[in-house]
Amino acid sequence: MNQQQALQQTFTHARTYFPSLGSSYKGRPVLFFDNSAGAQVSQFVIDRVTDYYIHRNAQKGTIFARTEEMQHTIVDARQLAADLIGANDHSEIAFGQNATNFFHLFAHHLGRDLTKGDHIVITEADHHANVNPWMELAERGIHVHLWNVDDQGNLDFAQYEELLALRPKIVAAGWASNATGTIHDMKKITAMAHAAGALVVADGVQAASHIALDVKEAGVDFSAFSTYKIFGPHMGFGYVNRDHLNRLNGWRIKEELEKDAYFFEVGSQNHEGIEGFIGSMDYLAQVTKDAQANGFSLDETPLAQARPKRRELAGAMHFAHLFEQQLTDHFLAKLADVEHVVLYGKTAEQSAERLPVFSFNIEGIEPDVLGRELNEAGVEARTGNYLAINLMKRLAPSFGGSALRISLVHYNTVEEIDRFFEILDEVLVNLKTRIF
Ligand SMILES: Cc1ncc(COP(=O)(O)O)c(C=O)c1O
Repeated sequence: MNQQQALQQTFTHARTYFPSLGSSYKGRPVLFFDNSAGAQVSQFVIDRVTDYYIHRNAQKGTIFARTEEMQHTIVDARQLAADLIGANDHSEIAFGQNATNFFHLFAHHLGRDLTKGDHIVITEADHHANVNPWMELAERGIHVHLWNVDDQGNLDFAQYEELLALRPKIVAAGWASNATGTIHDMKKITAMAHAAGALVVADGVQAASHIALDVKEAGVDFSAFSTYKIFGPHMGFGYVNRDHLNRLNGWRIKEELEKDAYFFEVGSQNHEGIEGFIGSMDYLAQVTKDAQANGFSLDETPLAQARPKRRELAGAMHFAHLFEQQLTDHFLAKLADVEHVVLYGKTAEQSAERLPVFSFNIEGIEPDVLGRELNEAGVEARTGNYLAINLMKRLAPSFGGSALRISLVHYNTVEEIDRFFEILDEVLVNLKTRIF
């Protein structure tokens, strides 16, 4: 078995852990291609949530056994999140409602240290979750600068240097685009920001469901993630480099916050969701075991020296990325045969710098019309700007800042891609006879 076959085998099997995949609509198999908005969950998640309700359903703050077990489990879950993203340990992690909420919290707390005339940099490539919270600070006289992209959606590093010369206090930037799938060089972004004296708030949401992240290696100071895009329940978690915990003071429980990020978790938490998150991490650990059984090793990778649990969790993302690169190449080769297509972001020749997230338009066809026809044929994919509002306005002005997005993850298959292009052909023939 060569590497390509071993990856196919590993991820064909991974798909079988997801009971929701394989449904049908109007007699046709559903192609679930909306993964950038939120992924499906495996049986590990479903079982874990059920187990929580039977054995550990309790409130914080007592010492009887059910509560104690629940409280320990939540610390375990924070440790798993730390292992996944390469944080020091559970004390740098807090669970919460979603990533957007964390960006608002970061802006609120970091904003307390800013004064009128200070500078902040946000990017034109980002989802609004990591844009809006900073824009709100402009109302207090803080200068918020937009770091622009070029015609392909790449961040313009020459302009970044100019912005850093203003000595901004904060740079808010995404690790990967949820619209074009472009992976940003976070290590370079943070190194340049730190040299200019700025802290970096990285949006890790999109990258986390595709690649093995390492917050320490990348040098990010604050970050947030959506567990429901990492094959888990609808929640999020935040990462705070422990050197900066004391910057977040003043929010309800000051003394405690100085010790641990999880005092962001004020009030009651979504325990069942946190348990489901553990299930999603059990799933990733299983993927790594399956990959190893198929002959893969992590010994020659950057994860070789990682602690055992991190090897298991980030290892799955390492293998997933290798497989997703096959999906990406296959998808882009097929897309090249579609007439009048306009793809946003990295091309087939640059596929190593992107995720299998493809936004494109067909000249002469309104994205929403195309999207609706595809939905009717069982393709679950969305059109619009996916809240990467500035980026899509910049890249697709003649389509009103909108495009069709096909977003794949490792449980999608080459066969699904082939089926999609057959359906797209049918839909385009029908639409062209109606439109032209
Ligand atoms: C890049 C990116 N950032 C942030 C978000 C918002 O995440 P949440 O729903 O967890 O707030 C999304 C959701 O699509 C996203 O893709």
